[in-house]
Amino acid sequence: MNKVTKAVIPAAGLGTRLLPATKAIPKEMLPIINIPTLQYIVQEAADAGIKELLIVISRGKEAIKNHFAPAAKLEAELLAKKKLALLEEVRKSNKIVKIKYVYQAKQLGLGHAIGCAKDFAKGQPIAVLLGDDVVVSKGKTALGQCIDAYNKTKCSIVGVQPVETKVINKYGIVSPVKKADAKKDVFAIKNLVEKPEPEEAPSNLAILGRYVLTPDIFNAIAKTAKDKSGEIQITNALKFLAKKNKVCACKFSGTRYDLGNKVGMVKATIDFALRDNEIKEDILKFIRSKK
Ligand code: G1P
Repeated sequence: MNKVTKAVIPAAGLGTRLLPATKAIPKEMLPIINIPTLQYIVQEAADAGIKELLIVISRGKEAIKNHFAPAAKLEAELLAKKKLALLEEVRKSNKIVKIKYVYQAKQLGLGHAIGCAKDFAKGQPIAVLLGDDVVVSKGKTALGQCIDAYNKTKCSIVGVQPVETKVINKYGIVSPVKKADAKKDVFAIKNLVEKPEPEEAPSNLAILGRYVLTPDIFNAIAKTAKDKSGEIQITNALKFLAKKNKVCACKFSGTRYDLGNKVGMVKATIDFALRDNEIKEDILKFIRSKK
């Protein structure tokens, strides 16, 4: 059995939906309270058993590299001032998992970004985590559940959850082989459609930023034509594998936050604050005072 030990996080995009915050700061470095979003995603990968991680970046997004590297001067200062708890926090980010980086020269879409991981994958299955989707799970992580589904089926896996009709056109939507299968936690899919209009969507099950991809994905990416916005979509590459019955969906459990938009960011901030015993009471008091 091929164990899934490698993962890729595409983080080369311009973050236009969150301008002007993303003018000088990579969108993946925007925090939920005091931890950059990307650190949650990297931690999820590690918790799911990933040993080697590749982050796909672009020029100007080196803050990502700096965050996951040691910071000698800062660490020395914190040590001298005996701020040991903070020192531990600072050191945590460069100890989570082994990280490599690759530059995507041109922003040609998610499929193209994942294609940049071909040499890194070396013929092994790879997990993919997208930075916009942070998932808080009670038990196994979202990626851990997708890896379990891969181990059972040996198919490429897309992590899905139902979404409201009005946002269907923001996501890749899957179409189960048998309609009734959509009720199962893991089911085979016959097709995937990138951002369909709700009336044309084959279901309400949206791909939410977690994938496990078999090595044949790289040939599929190479065969995938650019869409009308000039991008190579991973959803379209997966269509080739779905035709050969080689893609399954894993309906993962957990609360998922869409950090690619303002409402999602605020919801995540509130929920994370209410989970933090240090600030929970103050925040609750503040929210109640708004009624
Ligand atoms: C990407 C994928 C889409 C997926 C979504 C999940 O879209 O292309 O299939 O449903 O991520 O967040 P993006 O949000 O980058 O436009």
